[in-house]
Amino acid sequence: MSAPTPDTNAGMPLVHAVNVMKAFDGNQVLKGIDLDVRKGQVICLLGPSGSGKTTFLRCINQLETIDGGRIWVDGDLMGYEDRGGTLHELNNRAIAAQRRDIGMVFQKFNLFPHKTALENIMEAPIQVKGENKAEARERALTLLDRVGLQDKPSAYPAQLSGGQQQRVAIARALAMQPKLMLFDEPTSALDPELVGEVLAVMRELANEGMTMIVVTHEMSFAREVADEVVFMDGGVVVEQGDPKSVINNPQHARTKSFLRRMQSEHHAVEHVPESLRDAVIAETHHLHDIPASNSDPDETE
Ligand SMILES: Nc1ncnc2c1ncn2[C@@H]1O[C@H](COP(=O)(O)OP(=O)(O)OP(=O)(O)O)[C@@H](O)[C@H]1O
Ligand SMILES: [Mg+2]
Repeated sequence: MSAPTPDTNAGMPLVHAVNVMKAFDGNQVLKGIDLDVRKGQVICLLGPSGSGKTTFLRCINQLETIDGGRIWVDGDLMGYEDRGGTLHELNNRAIAAQRRDIGMVFQKFNLFPHKTALENIMEAPIQVKGENKAEARERALTLLDRVGLQDKPSAYPAQLSGGQQQRVAIARALAMQPKLMLFDEPTSALDPELVGEVLAVMRELANEGMTMIVVTHEMSFAREVADEVVFMDGGVVVEQGDPKSVINNPQHARTKSFLRRMQSEHHAVEHVPESLRDAVIAETHHLHDIPASNSDPDETE
């Protein structure tokens, strides 16, 4: 085998985040996050509400500026330029150019209500990249097909289900041909019966080799699709690793109690009569291969 072509960024993961810090009005939300994501990897980011997951995604995408640390995406230092060892903030135009290569999908789909599915997907390539209309339209049609909505090009968002709208939103992000896709709880706003169709599209995207960071509470998706699971709490990464080990055999008390809460919320154990709870919890553990010993919330680290 021949040696790889020399490259200044050779060996650097697609996403290389080092000691990322972010505070809002003195509230330290990210306390030094390190994360590497190699090309083609899928990372699932888990953690309780307020742990900083959204903030971290927004920092990667430069919707927030960071207060400390560094983030590289595909070798580009996000938000800054290194001139002779000194960092200079990039101007808005340069930041917009970096952001173009990163697709983001939110919990709320945020489609343009007065544009059709097809027009929603065509919008950014035309407006931001200056692509010609015919080219943008052709790719948009291909993408609609890819997300299983080939029969909906003319539908307006209000005429689509939540699951269909989210699939249009994924197609819209893909239309910019991103290097990296960030998903922030893409199925949390959906009725339960619509979650599967969105996860299926994401799973396919993962199989096709897209690099993805996915904030999700969908444990079976994380377990089956993620190359790595990262558990955040209080602005730090508490635990990370192979999804099966982290989900089935968490090492830290905070991970254990979070996973336990997730399972019981998911199966609405709180609505089950007291007398049946143990049985339901046991069933849940069985379904998710979680040893009952991991569910002790009193256990300390
Ligand atoms: N723009 C902002 N201004 C002030 N505080 C903010 C801002 N954005 C986030 N925060 C605070 O930062 C902390 C982390 O928020 P973040 O949204 O990143 O959490 P999360 O892990 O995504 O939570 P959730 O699971 O509820 O979405 C919270 O305490 C939140 O109130
Ligand atoms: Mg969030």
